[in-house]
Amino acid sequence: MHDAVRASLPELEEWLPWAIGYDRSVAQRFVRDSASAWNDARAFDFAIRLHEEPDFHVGNISVWPTSPANRVGEIGYWIRSDLTGDGIATEVTARTIQIGFEELHYHKIVLRIAVGNERSDRIAKRLGFTFEGTLRDEVEVGGTWIDHTTWSLLESEWPEVRDTLQSDGVLL
Ligand SMILES: CC(C)(COP(=O)(O)OP(=O)(O)OC[C@H]1O[C@@H](n2cnc3c(N)ncnc32)[C@H](O)[C@@H]1OP(=O)(O)O)[C@@H](O)C(=O)NCCC(=O)NCCS
Repeated sequence: MHDAVRASLPELEEWLPWAIGYDRSVAQRFVRDSASAWNDARAFDFAIRLHEEPDFHVGNISVWPTSPANRVGEIGYWIRSDLTGDGIATEVTARTIQIGFEELHYHKIVLRIAVGNERSDRIAKRLGFTFEGTLRDEVEVGGTWIDHTTWSLLESEWPEVRDTLQSDGVLL
């Protein structure tokens, strides 16, 4: 994971605050926190790997409850820069949404996307999310506050989205 992040820093640093000043200790802390978060059901972090090369780290995707009482969850992801543009983020996000609705029983899944992150906007649209609005100065990245858009998909919308993604071959 550390090597994949290091190989992707210019792209990750643009949008993700944790990528700034990234080193091995950040990777180690993430893995430790991730294991305890999984055990406590605070967050479910997945490593993204290719069938044909299972030891090669491609990226991460996480799903976590933001409002357990209302069954709202959020998804976040990154893909190593030399493997972008191949549909991997779209595919793994579709699968994680399926886990969110069908295994974690969420009512609503949210994506928060930095304004200007057009690739991520396209993922939200492709996966049937509805734009809800813009959150001002939501995250500080490298000393600059950036706005985020918020997008959502509801459990009632999932069956139709799932059928489309399955017939398009994005979801098994
Ligand atoms: C954003 C990110 C996850 C996209 O990953 P990816 O595997 O390339 O995504 P996909 O291949 O599924 O493509 C998603 C969309 O972006 C478009 N896209 C991908 N690479 C592109 C490129 N280099 N230029 C323009 N568009 C591109 C694709 O065409 C696709 O849109 P479409 O379905 O309308 O054709 C990846 O670039 C990344 O990790 N970026 C840095 C971290 C980040 O932004 N995380 C998300 C925070 S919300």
